[in-house]
Amino acid sequence: MARRISLSRAARLVGVKRGVLQQKIRAGQLQTFEGEIVLADLLQSYPNAQIEDSSMLERVEQIIEQASFINADNVARKPDNLALGSRIMALGKDLSQQQRLVSGYRRLLRDLRHEIEQLDVGRGSLETLTQWLENAEATLLADDDTIDQPFINETFLRVMTAQATVIPSGHEFFVEGADSILEAGLRGGLALNYGCSNGNCGLCKMRLVSGETRKTRHHDYTLTEAEKGIGYILGCCHTAVSDVVLEADEAQGTADIPTQTIALRLKRIERPNEDVLIVSTRTPRTSRLRFLAGQRATLSVDQIGSAFYPIASCPCDDMNLQFHIAVNADDALANYLLDSARTNDQLMLEGPSGAFVLNENSPRALVFIAEGIGFASVKGLIEHAMALDSAEQISLFWIADVDQPPYLNNLCRAWNDALDNFSYCPLPATARHNLGDHLDAQLPTQDPAGFDFYICANESLRAQCEEYALRHEIPASQFMFETI
Ligand code: FES
Repeated sequence: MARRISLSRAARLVGVKRGVLQQKIRAGQLQTFEGEIVLADLLQSYPNAQIEDSSMLERVEQIIEQASFINADNVARKPDNLALGSRIMALGKDLSQQQRLVSGYRRLLRDLRHEIEQLDVGRGSLETLTQWLENAEATLLADDDTIDQPFINETFLRVMTAQATVIPSGHEFFVEGADSILEAGLRGGLALNYGCSNGNCGLCKMRLVSGETRKTRHHDYTLTEAEKGIGYILGCCHTAVSDVVLEADEAQGTADIPTQTIALRLKRIERPNEDVLIVSTRTPRTSRLRFLAGQRATLSVDQIGSAFYPIASCPCDDMNLQFHIAVNADDALANYLLDSARTNDQLMLEGPSGAFVLNENSPRALVFIAEGIGFASVKGLIEHAMALDSAEQISLFWIADVDQPPYLNNLCRAWNDALDNFSYCPLPATARHNLGDHLDAQLPTQDPAGFDFYICANESLRAQCEEYALRHEIPASQFMFETI
């Protein structure tokens, strides 16, 4: 039987984002069978895909890492010996089944030859049939090299990573190295339920429906015998040793995210231009921030003051939080960060709050529009969409505040260069007067109603967006607007 693999694994195998394969499927260039792709079909579309030539994949991962939402500890990403052993064992079983199948076909071929020899038909017909059989067999053997390489590549990926599928959402992610299921799920963009990340609270409880996991850390939280009996595990204390299906709670919206108070440490302050500070902070390992991309939080420093800022990073890295803060004489906290703050100073965070979050159930392509420092909220959303890897197309329009490139122009250009399904269009400050014209000229399709729009801008841009929506008959529900 033709070997089939999931869309996620196929994308990883050929080094493209899932959205690119989804585009090919929609265009009829690739077939899916129950959500999976035949390996041989994939190879036909990507004849040069080799695991040894993974430069594109590495490049994408490098860019995403530069976006600072991959695990900052950056531990070695290879599975441990037990996980490797289990995966090789599973492959061994697979191989033995395939060998049995091949032996069966050989026997069938031999019997068929014998039957042909016994047939009482004209000599010429028999010779033709025998010749055809020999040619077919020779062609099959000659095809061996072509078939082997993708098989080897896919097998290699299966040994190095386990795929997890969450029900009922159907979300997928990969468990790499010695990552816990919880860490891998968060990195994959899922809003899994959790609290302490170290086995104390029990909030990351999930049920193993199929596959095999292994406990990687002692936990104080006690699962009852009944829970263990039906397969419950703690996601923060287990890793996957084979492909797994898990039944797990995921946040459905902002109401599922509790308000938290966390003491952050200041890691770094950068000033990309005169008007903006990029403030990088870190939570304690056992008290990370659970939030949805696009939300905000209040930062405060004793005796100085407090302010409400967007979180400019992705929930897939819940320890390293970034904030973009406007240099503003009226903001006491911004002044403190600009003039007096030192590495390792403590900042108190309270939050998250805000409803400017992705509609993950929407099948539409994504358009982000940021005006000036409005990019802070949009950046978290884009990084989250990249981690989820479910959008076919992501477009970013960034309107500069003044007559100079946006303050993280290089990062956006790097995304544009590295990701097939991402396009970046920096716009001059004058674009705030004719935004609709720019959208008409740049959006890669004639069907604007096929997009969800996420806009973080000054209130004055709202009327233009409404006019654009009206002109293209786009429902208001596809426009999410956040005021800077
Ligand atoms: S997150 Fe608390 S036990 Fe796993």
